[in-house]
Amino acid sequence: MQIVILNNSDDVASYGANIFIQQLRRKPSSVLGLATGSTPLALYRLLIGANQVGDVSFAQATSFNLDEYLGLDGQHKQSYRYFMDQQLFDHIDIDKQRTFVPPGDASDPIEACERYERQIAQAGGIDIQLLGIGRNGHIGFNEPSSGLMSRTRVKTLTKATIEDNARFFSADEYQPHLSITMGIGTILDAKKVLLLATGANKAAAIKATVEGALSASCPASALQLHRNAMLVLDEAAASQLD
Ligand code: F6R
Repeated sequence: MQIVILNNSDDVASYGANIFIQQLRRKPSSVLGLATGSTPLALYRLLIGANQVGDVSFAQATSFNLDEYLGLDGQHKQSYRYFMDQQLFDHIDIDKQRTFVPPGDASDPIEACERYERQIAQAGGIDIQLLGIGRNGHIGFNEPSSGLMSRTRVKTLTKATIEDNARFFSADEYQPHLSITMGIGTILDAKKVLLLATGANKAAAIKATVEGALSASCPASALQLHRNAMLVLDEAAASQLD
């Protein structure tokens, strides 16, 4: 695992954005693995800026998002499809037909998970997978105790994750407790993995990821097995590392 520690979250975002820009310049038809949440927002803003001034193009790229709430369709404002459209896809030159997010409204979610795996394989596999990390060490919605070889599947969210994400839902809004998520095995198949973490509330999870045992109790520790995984951290997220 390669660890890069930078001063602050702005530096993390520009470092990460630069890796994506270099990847797309090297291989315009790259298959990008994308994440939602607060962490990648600044990176997405930088990618939008770079695209709009012609520094990078997504015209030939394909994307696959890590996860989606089961029970929300793509029009729902809390769905990850909606988030991606708003925060990235609607502002860049990517072909929306080639942006994939697990279908939260699938009538047969089990079949939808298998189809998602097939679609990733048909696209040639993920060239670079962007990740955030949960306070409990989750990646995607692979909560603690997820199988380290797991594939895309339906997953129940833990109480901690439901509480963490409650900030995005209004009090009277239905908050799903189930998700479709790429598995840890799916993530490990990406040619390169780029995990971003900022803020002191991620410091314990980062310590467990980097210095802890390889264990399903910290799903991100599975990145210890990956040959080309990079963690880009601000000082606060790195503050518990020895
Ligand atoms: C989002 C995802 C999650 C988040 C994680 C951190 O698609 O897969 O694993 O990356 O929950 O979320 P933030 O960035 O909001 O702290």
